Amino acid sequence: MAKDKILVIGASGQIGVELTLALRKIYGAANVVASDLREENDLLKGTGPYVSMDVMNKEMLHVQVIRQNITQIYLLAAILSATGEKNPGLAWHLNMQGLLNVLDIAREEKLHKVYWPSSIAVFGPTSPRQFCPQQTVIEPITVYGISKYAGEFWCNYYHQRFGVDVRSIRYPGLISYKSAPGGGTTDYAVEIYHEALAEKKYTCFLKEDTYLPMMYMPDAIRATMELMHAPANNIKVRTSYNISGMSFSPTEIAASIQKHIPDFQLSCVPDYRQAIADSWPQSIDDTVASADWNWKPAFDLDKMTTDMLQNLSKK
Ligand code: NAD
Ligand code: SER
Repeated sequence: MAKDKILVIGASGQIGVELTLALRKIYGAANVVASDLREENDLLKGTGPYVSMDVMNKEMLHVQVIRQNITQIYLLAAILSATGEKNPGLAWHLNMQGLLNVLDIAREEKLHKVYWPSSIAVFGPTSPRQFCPQQTVIEPITVYGISKYAGEFWCNYYHQRFGVDVRSIRYPGLISYKSAPGGGTTDYAVEIYHEALAEKKYTCFLKEDTYLPMMYMPDAIRATMELMHAPANNIKVRTSYNISGMSFSPTEIAASIQKHIPDFQLSCVPDYRQAIADSWPQSIDDTVASADWNWKPAFDLDKMTTDMLQNLSKK
């Protein structure tokens, strides 16, 4: 692994910070270049190289890849589901053109690997709601979901046509305590822990019985590493893999928090994000990822709650 040099694009975001730190542990700090449009996240400062960069500027991206001898790119820059509905044109432009810029450069510079995350948002109201399978009806209703679905097929196309080793996971909603989430429909499941500790109450923007697929960040980071380190022959899905962690509703996460903070109170005032959540499956079937690269989650809801509250209390 020592001969690989990695560029993380969108490194200051919710996943980017933790993924960059995890990659630096494996590949060495100097071999993982963090980059973002916004300033370097405080948690990354002093841990390795950082460049300020816009993924939409293909020329600058290309120069950085050559100058820094990059062999792998992890592309995390995107506009998520809730923010995307406020500016659909911008979401489509960034989510598509950013990916195409990276795939083109990967092809031209013969990069070893590319990682690009998709989402459960590819699924829509016509997909099965329970244990939604890898291959099924996919008719997303958000611009974010449409961009992820199109992106999956661009990844597959660059792999089949040009041999680019691009790999992808359809992440569920991700819950973490290190860096803040960036405008998704599942963000409530992070906010609720912060508010439980600060205020002992939380007003959720989804209805109390809204079940969604979720995952704790350590599982998501491990899944990403396991997928990227699996032998290329094992990676049979070149669009994007379903993975599953847990599934819960606002009522259930509140009950899990109440085991630690008995007087915590949940109220619900649904807004435009309810329609987005209602269009997604409630749980995901990840048997293909299990078979191809041995995916298995480690965290359930109560284990995650204990860890979240412990770590946020320390903060
Ligand atoms: P985030 O919004 O927290 O981070 C995205 C980062 O990209 C931000 O730091 C932002 O400044 C940066 N960025 C935006 N435009 C850029 C540009 N033009 N050039 C360079 N950087 C730019 O998002 P995240 O939650 O970390 O998500 C990362 C990826 O994972 C996205 O593709 C997202 O769709 C996917 N994903 C996330 C979740 C989740 O629950 N967090 C779930 C499914 C999929
Ligand atoms: N957590 C993400 C969102 O809600 C799912 O991709 O947008």
